[in-house]
Order: sequence, then structure tokens, then C-alpha cells
Amino acid sequence: MFFVTTAIDYTNGSPHIGHAYEKVLADVITRYHRLTGEETYFLTGVDQHGQKVQQTAEKEGISPAEYVKTVTTRFSALWEKIGVHYDGWAETTDPRHIRCVQAILSDLYAQGQIYKKTYKGFYSVRQEQFLTDRDRDETGNFGPEWGEVTEIEEENYYFKLSDHTPWLRDFLETSEDTILPGFRKSELINALEKNTGADLCISRPKERLTWGIELPFDPDFVTYVWFDALINYISFIGYAPDSSLPNFKTIWTGRPVHIIGKDILVPAHGIYWLAMLKALDFADNQMPQLLVHGWWNRSGEKMSKSLGNIVDPVELADTFGVDALRYYLVRDIHTGKDSNFDVERLVMLFNTELANELGNLCNRALNMSVRFTAGIISPGGVLTKDDTALQQSLIDCTAAYRKAMDNHEISMGLEALNRHVVHCNQYAERMKPWEINKNPENKDRLATVLHHLAESVAHCAVLLSPVLPDAAAKLAAQLKLPQLSELKLDDLTWGLIPNGHEIEKPSPVFPRIEVKAEI
Ligand code: MSP
Repeated sequence: MFFVTTAIDYTNGSPHIGHAYEKVLADVITRYHRLTGEETYFLTGVDQHGQKVQQTAEKEGISPAEYVKTVTTRFSALWEKIGVHYDGWAETTDPRHIRCVQAILSDLYAQGQIYKKTYKGFYSVRQEQFLTDRDRDETGNFGPEWGEVTEIEEENYYFKLSDHTPWLRDFLETSEDTILPGFRKSELINALEKNTGADLCISRPKERLTWGIELPFDPDFVTYVWFDALINYISFIGYAPDSSLPNFKTIWTGRPVHIIGKDILVPAHGIYWLAMLKALDFADNQMPQLLVHGWWNRSGEKMSKSLGNIVDPVELADTFGVDALRYYLVRDIHTGKDSNFDVERLVMLFNTELANELGNLCNRALNMSVRFTAGIISPGGVLTKDDTALQQSLIDCTAAYRKAMDNHEISMGLEALNRHVVHCNQYAERMKPWEINKNPENKDRLATVLHHLAESVAHCAVLLSPVLPDAAAKLAAQLKLPQLSELKLDDLTWGLIPNGHEIEKPSPVFPRIEVKAEI
């Protein structure tokens, strides 16, 4: 089973384009893996506990439970709207998750992996964390990013992270495919060097934070952030068996892929989570792969509520359509790198690559077939150099697409697909079926050319389906080949359209976006 997860989103605000990107990326990867024939399970959800939620709910005069319920709906409604289809949905206030977190805490406590100690230090209320001297700026002060900083002393529970760091260092150093893309590995190993010896504080006293999961061995404390949130990856697939959840062993069969942003690699996933799994006796060949994506920025700046430069995906989907939004989010960024959000590029990419190229190919190919051959597709006669070159282009582009998609490089996969589409449009320009049609003696040649175009549309529909499933289904419907949705990648050989097959008059699947002045 291919098991893919995303980070679970904090429910302390509305979803923005960064959240949408990660979920669309995961959705595309899931759909692509199904296309390879692999059984796939996709888990995503929301991270509902924590101080910020408690504070915002207090400000709004409602209970945290009420507050997270409303915010959670904003996320799940967005995923529904933009076609993000998950198999499992994680909400950290779910009693099944709470039971699992508590069972794990009890076990680790019984094994002596969790202990209590007193700690005195500077604490940032905004970031909900103790600070160290490394967090001071050049002037020796804690910068404004930490908000209010106070010195406090308190007892807390700690996880013996230091027991597992030697293993983690060896594991990361010898593994080439745990951190994807590989260039992020050194950042993690450097952080690990600095971190040796430190254990992880996993609790908060209830007098400071009530909105969390109570420690099963001390009701005066709740779990703090990571020992709650990270466990979602196993709790919601039945790590603690529950009849309403899947069977853990059928889902976590090999190495899952956790899709996360670069900000939560170090230390959360790259150090804490791998060490936690080690403490739970997960073997090296069960350790997740961390697919670390970059950030969508605006004008080179990080997007944040305080900067007021957040892009609302709901608005974008309403204005430009779901296809344009999904396509842009995976087309205009290289997995692992940052990108600058630019609505003009969103429109441009849709209009050029979808409306002008793929849309045009589909329209002209199917329209000409309807007009010149009564909608009947047949292979025609002898193949020319141009025909075999088109078939070769399809083979090459499909191989390049698969290679890119296997590496989670969606943008390059789409680029390969576009290369074939451009080839087809150029072929149509050169072959000029509208001229061939003028001479009834050239019926066979006309059939061959139109067949090559229609066959290409059929392949493109399948290759496009992980990114734009609805558009792919429309293309298949116009070809009157609904069975395309059942195909796997290995079925994509020349001859998807049966001899004598009749297609339908097409209507545009990618109508151009007309730009209004205010965009
Ligand atoms: N709740 C934690 C994750 C817990 S996972 C066990 C969290 N939540 S978050 O809402 O702040 O972020 C959720 C995901 O969105 C993270 O992977 C984060 O990197 C990603 N993004 C948040 N802003 C982003 C951009 N501007 N661009 C791309 N992705 C970014 O962290």
C-alpha cells in the first residue's frame, strides 16, 4: 500500500494558498500512484489543539471546541471544492486520536522514556516555546517575532529524545531517500549536531494551557503540540485498534510519504517524529519518507496573517475555476523550491497551456473528425514519417512524464505532457487535414491524421487526470471513452481508440479566462 499524508493544518485561521498547495500536491500524488496501479491511502486533516486556538476562542468569547468546529469546516469545505479527495480525515480532538495518544504516552512513560523535571527559562507566549540564547538577536534581545517573552520556571514532562539521536544520525547519514528532495538533508543533519543531548518537552501545565490532551499519568498537564499532532499519522489509521478505523498493518506496509512544508522539517518531523517512531519500535524500513515542499510567497515575502498578504484559495477558485487553480499550484513551482504567487501567471498558464494548446488540440481534432469523417475514428492507411514521429513523441513524453511524476516533480510531468500537445498541434498545422479533406481520394490519409490526433487526446486525458480529474473525465466523455478512467499507465499503448469508434462533437473543456481590468 502506498500511504501518503500531509501536515495537518492549524485551525487558528482560514486556509490560504500554502495549505491548498500542499493538499493539491498530495491529491495529485495520490491519484498518480493509483494510475501506476498501486493501492493508495491518503490521510489529511486538521491540528485543533494548542494555545493559539485557546487564545483566539477566548477573544471571540466562544469555547475552543466551538471555534475549531467552525474553522475545521472551512478547511474541509475547501478540499471538497477543489477536488482534494482523501481517504482518512484526522481531527486531533477526535476521541479515537486522544485515546491513541494517551496509550502511547502511557507506554513510553512505563518504559521510562518520559520523565519529569523542572525547567527555568525564557518563554515566548506567541510561539508557545521556551527560548535559548541562540534565539537572541545581535543586540542580545529576543526579537519582536517572539512577541511577549517572560522568564518562567515550571515542571514539565520530557521525552528522552537524546536516547535516539545517535541512531537518527546514522540512519539519516546512510539513507539517501528519507529526505526528499535530497538537498534538505544537510540542514537536518546540522540541526541534529546542535541538538545532541537535549530532550523534548512534551507537556504544558494545565494552568497555562487547558486545550490539549491530558497526560494519562498526570491530570495536571496536557500534551504539548508535537506529541499530539504528529501521532495523527498513525492514530487515524488504527495504530490503537478501533473498529471504525482501518487496520494499521494494511496501510503502513512499507515507507509512507509524509508531505510537509520546509518549516516543519527541522526539528518536528526530521528529528522528533523519527525519534518518536524509533521509541515505538518502528524499524528503519518502516520510517517515513519526508517529502519537503517549499513555500508560496508573495513578492518574495513569506505569506502571513500579520503581513496581510494572504491569498484566499476560495476566491481564486470562484474567480478562475478549480482547474486553473489546481493546475497553477502544481505547475508553477518545483517541488522542494519556493515560488512567488502571481495571479497573472495563473491566468497565463491556463490560457496558454490549457486553453490554447490542449484545449485547441482536443477541439480541432474532434471537430474535424465530426465534420470530415462523421465522427468515426479509424486508423486509415500507410504511416508516414510524420505519423511515426508523433507516435515516438508520445512514447518519449509519456516516459518523461512518468519519470518526473515518480519523483513527485509535477511541474516537469506537466511540461512533458505539454511537449506532446505542442507536437500534435504542429503536426496538425503541417498535415492540414482541412486541405486533405478536399480530395475524396485521400480518405485514408485523412483518417490516419485525425486518428493520430484523437489517439493523442485519449492519452493526454489519462496523463492529465491526476492533476485535473474533472477535465480529464470531460475529455474522455467527448471521446465517448469513459473507460479511459479505468486505465493504468501501463495500459497506455497506441490504439486506445477502437477501430470505427464514434466520437461526439466537442465543446471547449478549457474556455479561455478573459482578464478583467482589476486583476
Ligand atoms: N499543524 C502544524 C503541522 C502539524 S503536522 C503533524 C502546522 N500547521 S500549519 O497550518 O501552519 O501548516 C500546515 C502546512 O502548510 C505545513 O506543511 C506548512 O509548511 C504548509 N504551509 C503553510 N504556509 C505555506 C506557504 N505559504 N506555502 C506553502 N506551504 C506552506 O504547521
